[in-house]
Amino acid sequence: MKLEDVIDIVRIANQSFLETARLTRLMGQRFVQYMRQWPDWLFVAETSEGKVVGFIFGSPDGEAHASIHWIAVHPKFQGMGIGGMLLKAIEEKASSLGLKAILTGTPFALRFYEKYGFKCVGIRRRLVLELIGKSLEPPEGLESRLIALEGLRDFIPLMDREEYLRFISAYFSVYESDPEKALAVLADNQIVGILIGRRNEVYPDLVTLGYIFVKDSAYAFRMLKLFAYRASTGGYRWVGVELPIPYVEEGELLKEGWQDAQLPSFWTGYQLRKDLQK
Ligand SMILES: CC(C)(COP(=O)(O)OP(=O)(O)OC[C@H]1O[C@@H](n2cnc3c(N)ncnc32)[C@H](O)[C@@H]1OP(=O)(O)O)[C@@H](O)C(=O)NCCC(=O)NCCS
Repeated sequence: MKLEDVIDIVRIANQSFLETARLTRLMGQRFVQYMRQWPDWLFVAETSEGKVVGFIFGSPDGEAHASIHWIAVHPKFQGMGIGGMLLKAIEEKASSLGLKAILTGTPFALRFYEKYGFKCVGIRRRLVLELIGKSLEPPEGLESRLIALEGLRDFIPLMDREEYLRFISAYFSVYESDPEKALAVLADNQIVGILIGRRNEVYPDLVTLGYIFVKDSAYAFRMLKLFAYRASTGGYRWVGVELPIPYVEEGELLKEGWQDAQLPSFWTGYQLRKDLQK
């Protein structure tokens, strides 16, 4: 790959990636990072006139695997086998180093990877609710209170040590950036759970649920409604969650208008693997 190829690569990425269409600056920076770190794992596809029409970025991933980070083919050249050729370049690179498998994750290109022998080995399901144009009400009987640093000790009796460490880890991860999003949820003045939200760094119209603790399962679904309500009064366009959520059925969420996420940096992703021949 030549240095000037990066310009074509960013243009192709802009034109073909749905989920990162607005993220030119970020993509450009990541590309440069990969070019520095893994220069032997970047391949471009060119026409016979030398025009770059696709690219793939990979890297070794531990001792036994390689990963694919990004692949894209210019929309005008899709469906002609170029994506397959790019996959082959990475497979050959990985095989030449004796690696056993290629791993990747994708929100959209499941069919493409399956065509070339990748198997889906896991799904990370993320749902979003669009808040614009919805008149959400706070769920009845629940209120919320900000959790201050000093207040953290109140939660020690409510959960075991591991859960408490998970909770405060989530708490401290938003302590500087989103302190107003750490909420104790109360019913009749008793704590029934905890919600910790986080503004998405890449896509600031989205707030996601970083942590939930449900003390009483009867309140779980209403807690999520409270989270969505707070997000909507906070002016966000989207609220997002990753499944599973304790005591909340996926079907209940879908009935309320939640849908599979396809937003920048927050989407339902398929984990894929292809074992390489010896
Ligand atoms: C996915 C992508 C790299 C495939 O490149 P390509 O050169 O079109 O791939 P090939 O011609 O080798 O294979 C085509 C196969 O991919 C699948 N495919 C094509 N476009 C696809 C798309 N947008 N989404 C999912 N699968 C797709 C089809 O199964 C097709 O096979 P078929 O024609 O027999 O049905 C290309 O469509 C692309 O750049 N998409 C946008 C960017 C993207 O989604 N990248 C992956 C994100 S992780």
